[in-house]
Amino acid sequence: MRSPRDFFAPLAIGAPPPLREIPVRPSRMIHFFDPSNPKMVAKVPDIAPSVDVLLGNLEDAIAADRKEAARAGLVEVARTAQLGPTQLWTRVNALDSPWVLDDLTTLVSQVGDRIDVVMLPKVEGAEDIHYADRLLAQLEARAGLDRPILLHAILETARGVANVEEICLASPRMQGLSLGPADLAADRRMKTTRVGGGHPGYLVREDPSDDDVHAHRVTAQQDLWHYTVARMVDACVLAGISPFYGPFGDIADVVACEDQFRNAYLLGCVGAWTLHPKQIDIARRVFSPEPSEVSWAKRVVEAMGDGSGAAMLDGKMQDDATYKQCQVVLDLARHLAERDPELAAAYDL
Ligand code: GLV
Ligand code: MG
Repeated sequence: MRSPRDFFAPLAIGAPPPLREIPVRPSRMIHFFDPSNPKMVAKVPDIAPSVDVLLGNLEDAIAADRKEAARAGLVEVARTAQLGPTQLWTRVNALDSPWVLDDLTTLVSQVGDRIDVVMLPKVEGAEDIHYADRLLAQLEARAGLDRPILLHAILETARGVANVEEICLASPRMQGLSLGPADLAADRRMKTTRVGGGHPGYLVREDPSDDDVHAHRVTAQQDLWHYTVARMVDACVLAGISPFYGPFGDIADVVACEDQFRNAYLLGCVGAWTLHPKQIDIARRVFSPEPSEVSWAKRVVEAMGDGSGAAMLDGKMQDDATYKQCQVVLDLARHLAERDPELAAAYDL
């Protein structure tokens, strides 16, 4: 048993106190780069102003013999890059890997004041968050940090999905969750070899006419990730943290990427990973409300006054619930407009 008050006591003497609320910062795209690749590191100054989050990846996609170079490269970027309002995150190696202890000790000791969020892959349950929580507190105390580094879990095992609520609620350090569709597909023994996105075999078909089952019938692909993303959104809202769609691996298919990101946005996600510069504009477009949606929300809020009554607008019924829906859009728009002058002009708030 644990008193609710204890959740807000530091887990190590001298560690910064846990946050009571997770700061909401624009996080429409978490842009992955390989810190062991000098060409990618050289592009950091150009890419950083165009993304909300820059993430130095140390885990999968970094070959085993490049792990130390990636860690050292990230330390160098964190020390030297001028990132302005862009957040710096990292994805460390999995908790059962031989690298994660050095990832965490090196990063927190050397550049802990520059890292906003640590993304933990393959989180299976609250015990993984508890371990990282205590270790981070010890390292923060030793490094003399004055604010806690936040944790973000990737949901990429069936056990992780089954335990999603306890993962989100395991620590006040939890900032959010991302879907990891590639590892999750493997762990669940799903029969897709794609990284996110749909599959032509996962579909529904219209009924036959005249009992001719072989005649042409319209089909529509379904979203393989709908169930998991919906569960993530509910668990994150329960805990007051943010859900994110993860990677979309078919870089050339910018259209399907946009569809997948938009499904996640409409269901409640705040952002997605971008693995290639091509995906950055897609995420910015999708995870920022449409100006027409913002002006409609403004009209509803104005028509509803203090929000307690009911109104008809262009033949559409408005009440307490639609007032709240519109506030969600307006809050996001205001928040993004502070960061993005083009959006501020388009929203005219
Ligand atoms: C991401 O890490 C994934 O496994 O999809
Ligand atoms: Mg993965």
